[in-house]
Amino acid sequence: MKTVLVLNGPNLNLLGTREPLVYGSQSLEDVKALCQSACESHGFALDFRQSNHEGELVDWIHEAGKAQAAGKLAGVVLNAGAYTHTSVALHDAIKGTGIVLIELHISNVHAREAFRHHSFISPVAKAVMAGFGVKGYSMAIAGLAEFS
Ligand code: DQA
Repeated sequence: MKTVLVLNGPNLNLLGTREPLVYGSQSLEDVKALCQSACESHGFALDFRQSNHEGELVDWIHEAGKAQAAGKLAGVVLNAGAYTHTSVALHDAIKGTGIVLIELHISNVHAREAFRHHSFISPVAKAVMAGFGVKGYSMAIAGLAEFS
């Protein structure tokens, strides 16, 4: 059974209480449960993580690269949070490992402030999703099932 790695970046641990009008009222634990159920439907194992630290996310992408090379990974769903708009390091890690990665945002970043319109992740992502709320996570996992 292949694994889907779901990575969440900074401040996503605050889901449920953080700007509920933008991000909804579901917590990160609720999102994990959604992902678990989507993975079960598609025959994947789930590995679900969150970090507020850029370097830790880079390390996890390197780990994903090794898992993909070993045939153990279906792909990565990455909500890099604010690092989406700033991180050359995440861009380089995704490019350098060649992982199959879906960039995901809960909100429609293109309908928000101009500084959220640029992504360092999009050019190295297989697909990009934004604006479906937390349901986007299950949709992204279904998308990985289509690719594999
Ligand atoms: C986000 C959008 C980002 O601009 C923001 O910094 C986040 C969350 C989203 O899921 O909509 O932290 O990635």
